[in-house]
Amino acid sequence: MEEVKKGGSIPLILDSGNLFFNQNPIPDEMKAQMRLKADLLADAYKKIGIDALNVGELDLAFGVNYLFDKRKNPGLPFVSSNIVYRVGGKEVFQPYIAKEVKGVKVAIFGLIPLLPNLGNNKDIKLLSPFDTARTMIGKLKGKADLIILLSNLGQQEDEKLAREVPGIDLIVGGRTRVLLQTPVKIGNTLILQAQAQGKQIGRLDLNPTTKAFVNSMTPMDEKVAKNEEIDGMVKRYKDAVVTLHSERPQPKVQEPFLKTYIGEAECARCHPAQSAFWKETSHARAYETLVVKKSHMDLECIGCHTTGYGVPGGFRLRMEAPDLRNVQCEACHGPGGRHMGKGDIRRIIDPSVCTGCHNKERDPKFNFISSVGKVRCPNLKIDIPLSKAQKPLLDKGFQ
Ligand code: HEC
Ligand code: HEC
Ligand code: HEC
Ligand code: HEC
Repeated sequence: MEEVKKGGSIPLILDSGNLFFNQNPIPDEMKAQMRLKADLLADAYKKIGIDALNVGELDLAFGVNYLFDKRKNPGLPFVSSNIVYRVGGKEVFQPYIAKEVKGVKVAIFGLIPLLPNLGNNKDIKLLSPFDTARTMIGKLKGKADLIILLSNLGQQEDEKLAREVPGIDLIVGGRTRVLLQTPVKIGNTLILQAQAQGKQIGRLDLNPTTKAFVNSMTPMDEKVAKNEEIDGMVKRYKDAVVTLHSERPQPKVQEPFLKTYIGEAECARCHPAQSAFWKETSHARAYETLVVKKSHMDLECIGCHTTGYGVPGGFRLRMEAPDLRNVQCEACHGPGGRHMGKGDIRRIIDPSVCTGCHNKERDPKFNFISSVGKVRCPNLKIDIPLSKAQKPLLDKGFQ
């Protein structure tokens, strides 16, 4: 953005919605952290200088009133044309935002799909996005040189809308998390979409008269120079998350499950060869990876960098024993509380166990066949000194 501005251009910075949260409803234990994160995103967007921000389905997780707070001075420029009050029918947010860039009049409006369930948003209702689009075009035609729609409808609907409602110059889409390297053109409408979670910055240089354009996508990776101020915000967020979860009491785990997970140290007593092998894999350092990033208390991270998080008896923040940090034996072989050498443990690891963590979002290139060899433990040699190793453990009451 800074580079674009230095180059003398005045960019319009737009977001199609679903900015704040990645699920709706948000589970109770995540709520406090998600509020902190929304504050971070809001502050960062204000700093970047966002011109218009559509309200998406996920943004409604804490209700519209929550977004009103974010709209306060110096606020975020929310736009939504089809979220209206149940009583009176007036739009809840600005139905469109008008901007003038170097003499070109631009109008930006926003749409959300009809949702079957509005949760705790009791005072509002949604209007048909297609009908609303028609009304908006009627209103804006002639007044604006360029009409832009920020859409939370998803790519298929965006294309349908472009076919059925002519007059929109640009649709900046979202929701379906597609990466459109080049825009889709339907009639005179260009449809753009830049994946999700700020992974890509989509840029479109458009000649408003000829409609000729150049489009590019920039992945937001290490190559992109950091902005100190935003970096500072992220650091403060991480600190706040650590503080939050350091103070919060952890939920108690039900007694019968307590012995479900026993931890790598116990497995190692009978399976030293497998343990030695595992220690050389990056799974054994997955928690340290988070510590380095100061994300070890971040509920959005720990699930895949620890063992059994979210499962009774599995990893919890600040648990003392067993030690279930890192991706341990039981993350792949399943909880071993009842095994102790007597079966009841998973030997063959199904690929779905791996893709629970190596999912499309976090590890899009993951391939089970080519990667399992790197983590497959050495075969059992059944000369483990069973009685010696097993006895003291069995005496401890693991069944
Ligand atoms: C509980 C989550 C989880 C499970 C289950 C899991 N992994 Fe991983 N895996 C990770 C994480 C996290 C890392 C990155 C560790 C680090 O570097 O901090 C990783 C790293 C790896 C790496 C090393 C990547 C590299 O290039 O350094 C390979 C290979 C791998 N996993 C394969 C597998 C396979 C195959 C399975 C299933 C048999 C599997 N993983 C199961 C979370 C998991
Ligand atoms: C859905 C599971 C999942 C979640 C959630 C997750 N990770 Fe990971 N993470 C992985 C897997 C799998 C890998 C290994 C594959 C890879 O390197 O891309 C990995 C690798 C990493 C690495 C690279 C390790 C290295 O040095 O190569 C870092 C850093 C990391 N994760 C940090 C985080 C942070 C910070 C969060 C929370 C914001 C997080 N992860 C949330 C699964 C996850
Ligand atoms: C990333 C997943 C993963 C982790 C973590 C892991 N293993 Fe394994 N393990 C495998 C796979 C895959 C195999 C090979 C299974 C097969 O035969 O297809 C295997 C095989 C084994 C076997 C041999 C089974 C046999 O039939 O010979 C033992 C024992 C074992 N693992 C124990 C452990 C122990 C103990 C740990 C922790 C120190 C551990 N594993 C960590 C994936 C994992
Ligand atoms: C008290 C000793 C002991 C402990 C502790 C122990 N194991 Fe085992 N494990 C054995 C023995 C003995 C066998 C072989 C059993 C057999 O062949 O029937 C075995 C077999 C296995 C197998 C192969 C299962 C199969 O069906 O062939 C896996 C996988 C395994 N253990 C993983 C683990 C993991 C993971 C842990 C920790 C959670 C663990 N073990 C803890 C003694 C132990």
